[in-house]
Amino acid sequence: MLHDPNHLYIFDTTLRDGEQVPGCQLTTPEKIDIAKDLEKLGVDVIEAGFPVSSPGDFQSVVELSKAVNDVIICALTRANENDIKVAAEALKYAKRPRIHTGIGASDMHIKYKFNSTREEILDRAVAAVKYAKSHVEDVEFYAEDAGRADLVYLAQMVEAVIAAGATVVNIPDTNGYCLPDQYGAKIKFLKENVKNIDQAIISAHCHNDLGLATANSIAAIQNGARQVECTINGIGERAGNTSLEEVAMILKVHKQSFGNLTSNIDSKMFTYLSRKVSEMMNMPVQPNKAIVGRNAFAHSSGIHQDGFLKHRETYEIIRPEDVGLEEADIILTARSGRHALKYHLERLGYTLEKEALSQTYERFLIIADAKKDICDDDLRSLFAESV
Ligand code: KIV
Ligand code: ZN
Repeated sequence: MLHDPNHLYIFDTTLRDGEQVPGCQLTTPEKIDIAKDLEKLGVDVIEAGFPVSSPGDFQSVVELSKAVNDVIICALTRANENDIKVAAEALKYAKRPRIHTGIGASDMHIKYKFNSTREEILDRAVAAVKYAKSHVEDVEFYAEDAGRADLVYLAQMVEAVIAAGATVVNIPDTNGYCLPDQYGAKIKFLKENVKNIDQAIISAHCHNDLGLATANSIAAIQNGARQVECTINGIGERAGNTSLEEVAMILKVHKQSFGNLTSNIDSKMFTYLSRKVSEMMNMPVQPNKAIVGRNAFAHSSGIHQDGFLKHRETYEIIRPEDVGLEEADIILTARSGRHALKYHLERLGYTLEKEALSQTYERFLIIADAKKDICDDDLRSLFAESV
């Protein structure tokens, strides 16, 4: 498969790694609804499910394959013929099908999950890719727990599966174990030591157990990965996966650091899609979540508010409009300054001279100390008392 080295392929796994979180299960129509939005968002790949896992998941992959036209539809399997056969069947209506097969690559997985040996696991990996390749052209291989795998063995495995026909090699940090420099170095080692590596795309799949999923994905890109596997709001197993919106905005804010690398993502859809996924999956977004959290564009301390109101770029590295939010928020709390109070009074059409503003501000602080939320009615009463 020819790929553009200047394109960062965005592989969305909200409907697979995200959906396997307890309580996040979706119906097939809900999955189609989200998939259509993901297509509009500009992702390159949608991982639609794990067809052998249940009849419902199988049917979802069938229906998503019918409903989505432009984006690659991917189905997950383990490294065995039955999983792969079932996935191929579920993908039969996909215009651009991909099978995502793989097996554990760390000694921990080889010993305790498979009670096997490195040699046997390597043979199973190659056989799975060859079998998948007999069904579809586009085969992605995942080396599960690559984050803790022996690097030389991992390189051997990656080389063997590419030789067997893998078009994408996924190097998952399944347990969110690696530090960014360690994960980046793994990707660099594969880039420099796997002789057929240029025949495949290297993919980063990071979990967030140490809060490093996004940082690790970025380190992978900086070292040659050209696909990132991520989810809306970073949902996924345990502490979650790499958050799609974080990767896309890092690429945008630090454009110069990534050379010519581009993605097709329309960041203006982030706020809408984040809220929709959160509601449908019954999974609240933490208020301080980067990019899409309720407070991500809310300025609440007097020092920040004053600077922001003088020039927004003093405290804003992303324009809220760029993520589909109307405007930044100036929150009124007991930590707010006069400038913020004046801003909100003026928003309601009230103007106060300097002295009157100072007196109103003193009364405002008393209310703000006693109350969590200052609403427009509080401001109206404050103004009425000051004239
Ligand atoms: O985290 C992981 O290793 C995975 C694989 C199945 C790709 O989700
Ligand atoms: Zn995962």
